[in-house]
Amino acid sequence: MERVTVLFCFLVVLSTAQKTGFGPCPDALPLSSLDVKRYLGKWHEIYKIPNFFEADQSCITANYSLKADGHIKVFNQGVTNGQPVSKTGDAYVPNPSEPAKLMVKFSENSPYAPYWVLDTDYTNYTVVFSCESFGKIAHAQFAWILSRNITITESLNQKLFQTLENNGVPASYLKKADQSNCTSSKK
Ligand SMILES: *[C@@H]1O[C@H](CO)[C@@H](O)[C@H](O)[C@H]1NC(C)=O
Ligand SMILES: *[C@@H]1O[C@H](CO)[C@@H](O)[C@H](O)[C@H]1NC(C)=O
Ligand SMILES: *[C@@H]1O[C@H](CO)[C@@H](O)[C@H](O)[C@H]1NC(C)=O
Ligand SMILES: *[C@@H]1O[C@H](CO)[C@@H](O)[C@H](O)[C@H]1NC(C)=O
Repeated sequence: MERVTVLFCFLVVLSTAQKTGFGPCPDALPLSSLDVKRYLGKWHEIYKIPNFFEADQSCITANYSLKADGHIKVFNQGVTNGQPVSKTGDAYVPNPSEPAKLMVKFSENSPYAPYWVLDTDYTNYTVVFSCESFGKIAHAQFAWILSRNITITESLNQKLFQTLENNGVPASYLKKADQSNCTSSKK
Protein backbone atom coordinates (compact mmCIF):
# COMPACT_ATOMS: atom_id res chain seq x y z
CA MET A 1 0.00 0.00 0.00
CA GLU A 2 2.69 2.42 1.03
CA ARG A 3 4.70 1.60 -2.04
CA VAL A 4 1.71 2.29 -4.25
CA THR A 5 1.25 5.68 -2.57
CA VAL A 6 4.89 6.52 -3.04
CA LEU A 7 4.78 5.53 -6.67
CA PHE A 8 1.63 7.54 -7.16
CA CYS A 9 3.23 10.62 -5.59
CA PHE A 10 6.28 10.19 -7.73
CA LEU A 11 4.20 9.96 -10.91
CA VAL A 12 2.17 13.02 -9.96
CA VAL A 13 5.37 14.91 -9.27
CA LEU A 14 6.92 13.68 -12.53
CA SER A 15 3.97 14.84 -14.55
CA THR A 16 4.07 18.36 -13.13
CA ALA A 17 7.57 19.39 -14.19
CA GLN A 18 9.46 19.05 -10.94
CA LYS A 19 13.07 18.11 -11.07
CA THR A 20 12.87 14.53 -9.93
CA GLY A 21 15.40 11.78 -9.73
CA PHE A 22 15.89 8.32 -8.40
CA GLY A 23 17.59 7.81 -5.06
CA PRO A 24 17.77 10.21 -2.14
CA CYS A 25 18.12 14.01 -2.15
CA PRO A 26 21.50 15.56 -2.98
CA ASP A 27 23.74 16.32 0.01
CA ALA A 28 23.08 20.03 0.22
CA LEU A 29 24.68 22.04 3.01
CA PRO A 30 22.73 25.02 4.36
CA LEU A 31 24.46 27.96 6.04
CA SER A 32 25.58 27.26 9.61
CA SER A 33 24.06 30.55 10.79
CA LEU A 34 21.18 32.72 9.67
CA ASP A 35 20.19 36.13 10.99
CA VAL A 36 16.45 35.94 10.43
CA LYS A 37 15.89 39.64 11.20
CA ARG A 38 18.21 40.65 8.37
CA TYR A 39 16.61 38.05 6.10
CA LEU A 40 13.10 39.49 6.51
CA GLY A 41 11.49 41.75 3.92
CA LYS A 42 10.89 41.53 0.22
CA TRP A 43 12.71 39.35 -2.30
CA HIS A 44 12.26 39.01 -6.07
CA GLU A 45 12.49 35.68 -7.81
CA ILE A 46 15.37 35.62 -10.31
CA TYR A 47 15.84 31.93 -11.11
CA LYS A 48 14.08 28.74 -10.06
CA ILE A 49 13.63 25.11 -10.81
CA PRO A 50 10.17 25.15 -12.42
CA ASN A 51 7.48 23.83 -10.12
CA PHE A 52 3.78 23.15 -10.34
CA PHE A 53 2.75 25.48 -7.52
CA GLU A 54 4.06 28.60 -9.24
CA ALA A 55 3.45 27.52 -12.83
CA ASP A 56 2.53 30.34 -15.21
CA GLN A 57 3.29 33.01 -12.66
CA SER A 58 5.50 35.98 -13.42
CA CYS A 59 6.65 38.85 -11.22
CA ILE A 60 6.96 36.58 -8.21
CA THR A 61 8.02 38.16 -4.95
CA ALA A 62 8.20 36.89 -1.39
CA ASN A 63 7.88 39.08 1.67
CA TYR A 64 8.99 37.58 4.97
CA SER A 65 7.90 39.16 8.23
CA LEU A 66 8.06 38.15 11.86
CA LYS A 67 4.90 36.92 13.58
CA ALA A 68 4.07 37.35 17.25
CA ASP A 69 4.67 33.64 17.87
CA GLY A 70 8.21 33.80 16.47
CA HIS A 71 7.25 32.11 13.21
CA ILE A 72 7.72 33.89 9.89
CA LYS A 73 4.86 35.04 7.74
CA VAL A 74 5.54 34.25 4.09
CA PHE A 75 3.59 36.42 1.66
CA ASN A 76 4.15 35.40 -1.95
CA GLN A 77 2.80 37.48 -4.80
CA GLY A 78 2.79 36.92 -8.52
CA VAL A 79 0.88 37.60 -11.70
CA THR A 80 -1.06 35.02 -13.70
CA ASN A 81 -2.74 36.06 -16.95
CA GLY A 82 -2.36 39.69 -15.97
CA GLN A 83 -4.10 39.12 -12.62
CA PRO A 84 -2.35 39.45 -9.27
CA VAL A 85 -2.25 36.26 -7.23
CA SER A 86 -0.93 35.73 -3.75
CA LYS A 87 -0.67 33.19 -1.03
CA THR A 88 0.33 33.32 2.58
CA GLY A 89 2.46 30.72 4.28
CA ASP A 90 4.08 30.02 7.60
CA ALA A 91 7.75 29.26 8.16
CA TYR A 92 9.82 28.45 11.22
CA VAL A 93 13.11 26.99 12.34
CA PRO A 94 12.39 23.62 13.98
CA ASN A 95 15.89 23.19 15.40
CA PRO A 96 17.68 26.35 16.62
CA SER A 97 21.04 24.63 16.21
CA GLU A 98 20.35 24.47 12.46
CA PRO A 99 19.06 28.02 11.88
CA ALA A 100 19.22 27.97 8.07
CA LYS A 101 16.99 24.89 7.85
CA LEU A 102 13.52 26.34 7.82
CA MET A 103 10.25 24.58 7.19
CA VAL A 104 7.42 26.23 5.27
CA LYS A 105 3.81 25.47 4.40
CA PHE A 106 1.11 27.29 2.49
CA SER A 107 -2.07 25.65 3.71
CA GLU A 108 -3.44 24.26 6.93
CA ASN A 109 -3.73 20.79 5.46
CA SER A 110 -0.40 20.49 3.74
CA PRO A 111 2.69 19.29 5.57
CA TYR A 112 5.67 21.57 6.13
CA ALA A 113 8.34 21.35 3.42
CA PRO A 114 12.03 22.16 3.77
CA TYR A 115 13.31 25.66 2.99
CA TRP A 116 17.08 25.64 3.34
CA VAL A 117 19.15 28.78 2.87
CA LEU A 118 22.34 27.69 1.11
CA ASP A 119 23.75 31.20 0.93
CA THR A 120 22.65 34.79 1.44
CA ASP A 121 24.27 38.17 1.99
CA TYR A 122 20.90 39.61 3.17
CA THR A 123 21.23 42.76 1.04
CA ASN A 124 21.47 41.30 -2.48
CA TYR A 125 20.70 37.61 -2.85
CA THR A 126 19.57 34.37 -1.29
CA VAL A 127 19.87 30.83 -2.59
CA VAL A 128 17.11 28.53 -1.36
CA PHE A 129 16.96 24.77 -1.68
CA SER A 130 14.23 22.28 -0.92
CA CYS A 131 14.15 18.56 -1.47
CA GLU A 132 11.81 15.82 -0.43
CA SER A 133 12.50 12.17 -0.82
CA PHE A 134 9.97 9.39 -1.27
CA GLY A 135 11.59 6.78 0.87
CA LYS A 136 14.98 6.11 -0.69
CA ILE A 137 13.35 5.48 -4.05
CA ALA A 138 13.15 8.94 -5.52
CA HIS A 139 13.21 12.62 -4.74
CA ALA A 140 11.83 15.93 -5.97
CA GLN A 141 13.93 19.04 -5.63
CA PHE A 142 13.27 22.74 -5.83
CA ALA A 143 15.61 25.71 -5.81
CA TRP A 144 15.30 29.44 -6.05
CA ILE A 145 17.63 32.39 -6.47
CA LEU A 146 15.98 35.47 -5.01
CA SER A 147 17.26 39.04 -5.01
CA ARG A 148 16.37 42.26 -3.27
CA ASN A 149 16.38 43.78 -6.77
CA ILE A 150 14.59 42.59 -9.91
CA THR A 151 17.93 41.78 -11.56
CA ILE A 152 21.32 40.55 -10.47
CA THR A 153 24.65 41.03 -12.17
CA GLU A 154 26.04 38.30 -14.39
CA SER A 155 29.03 37.78 -12.10
CA LEU A 156 26.79 37.32 -9.05
CA ASN A 157 24.62 35.01 -11.12
CA GLN A 158 27.61 32.81 -11.93
CA LYS A 159 28.65 32.72 -8.28
CA LEU A 160 25.17 31.62 -7.17
CA PHE A 161 24.96 28.94 -9.88
CA GLN A 162 28.28 27.66 -8.57
CA THR A 163 26.84 27.55 -5.04
CA LEU A 164 24.00 25.39 -6.32
CA GLU A 165 26.37 23.13 -8.28
CA ASN A 166 28.50 22.70 -5.15
CA ASN A 167 25.38 21.48 -3.38
CA GLY A 168 24.51 18.92 -6.03
CA VAL A 169 21.99 21.04 -7.92
CA PRO A 170 22.91 21.42 -11.62
CA ALA A 171 22.48 25.03 -12.74
CA SER A 172 20.97 23.68 -15.95
CA TYR A 173 17.85 22.81 -13.95
CA LEU A 174 17.19 26.49 -13.32
CA LYS A 175 15.02 28.73 -15.46
CA LYS A 176 15.09 32.49 -15.44
CA ALA A 177 12.04 33.93 -13.75
CA ASP A 178 9.97 36.47 -15.63
CA GLN A 179 10.26 39.89 -13.96
CA SER A 180 10.00 41.80 -17.22
CA ASN A 181 6.69 43.64 -16.96
CA CYS A 182 5.88 43.82 -13.32
CA THR A 183 4.66 47.34 -12.74
CA SER A 184 1.22 46.09 -11.72
CA SER A 185 2.71 44.01 -8.90
CA LYS A 186 5.01 46.70 -7.51
CA LYS A 187 2.44 47.83 -4.97
C1 LIG B 1 6.06 42.98 4.06
O1 LIG B 1 5.09 42.53 4.99
C2 LIG B 1 5.04 43.31 6.17
C3 LIG B 1 4.08 42.65 7.14
O2 LIG B 1 2.85 42.41 6.55
C4 LIG B 1 4.63 44.73 5.82
O3 LIG B 1 4.61 45.53 6.96
C5 LIG B 1 5.64 45.29 4.81
O4 LIG B 1 5.24 46.56 4.39
C6 LIG B 1 5.79 44.39 3.61
N1 LIG B 1 6.88 44.86 2.78
C7 LIG B 1 6.75 45.05 1.48
C8 LIG B 1 7.95 45.58 0.78
O5 LIG B 1 5.72 44.82 0.88
C1 LIG C 1 25.21 44.02 -2.41
O1 LIG C 1 24.45 45.12 -1.90
C2 LIG C 1 25.24 46.14 -1.39
C3 LIG C 1 24.32 47.15 -0.72
O2 LIG C 1 23.04 47.14 -1.26
C4 LIG C 1 26.09 46.72 -2.52
O3 LIG C 1 26.88 47.77 -2.03
C5 LIG C 1 26.97 45.62 -3.11
O4 LIG C 1 27.69 46.10 -4.20
C6 LIG C 1 26.15 44.44 -3.52
N1 LIG C 1 27.00 43.33 -3.92
C7 LIG C 1 26.76 42.56 -4.97
C8 LIG C 1 27.74 41.43 -5.20
O5 LIG C 1 25.81 42.72 -5.72
C1 LIG D 1 18.74 47.14 -9.46
O1 LIG D 1 18.62 46.80 -10.83
C2 LIG D 1 18.63 47.91 -11.68
C3 LIG D 1 18.30 47.42 -13.08
O2 LIG D 1 19.10 46.35 -13.46
C4 LIG D 1 20.01 48.56 -11.58
O3 LIG D 1 20.05 49.69 -12.43
C5 LIG D 1 20.25 49.01 -10.14
O4 LIG D 1 21.54 49.50 -9.99
C6 LIG D 1 20.07 47.82 -9.20
N1 LIG D 1 20.12 48.30 -7.82
C7 LIG D 1 20.86 47.70 -6.90
C8 LIG D 1 20.77 48.28 -5.50
O5 LIG D 1 21.58 46.74 -7.12
C1 LIG E 1 3.43 45.13 -20.29
O1 LIG E 1 2.26 45.60 -19.65
C2 LIG E 1 1.60 46.62 -20.37
C3 LIG E 1 0.49 47.15 -19.51
O2 LIG E 1 -0.28 46.12 -18.93
C4 LIG E 1 1.13 46.02 -21.70
O3 LIG E 1 0.49 47.00 -22.45
C5 LIG E 1 2.33 45.48 -22.49
O4 LIG E 1 1.89 44.84 -23.65
C6 LIG E 1 3.12 44.50 -21.63
N1 LIG E 1 4.35 44.14 -22.32
C7 LIG E 1 4.81 42.88 -22.36
C8 LIG E 1 6.12 42.67 -23.06
O5 LIG E 1 4.22 41.94 -21.84
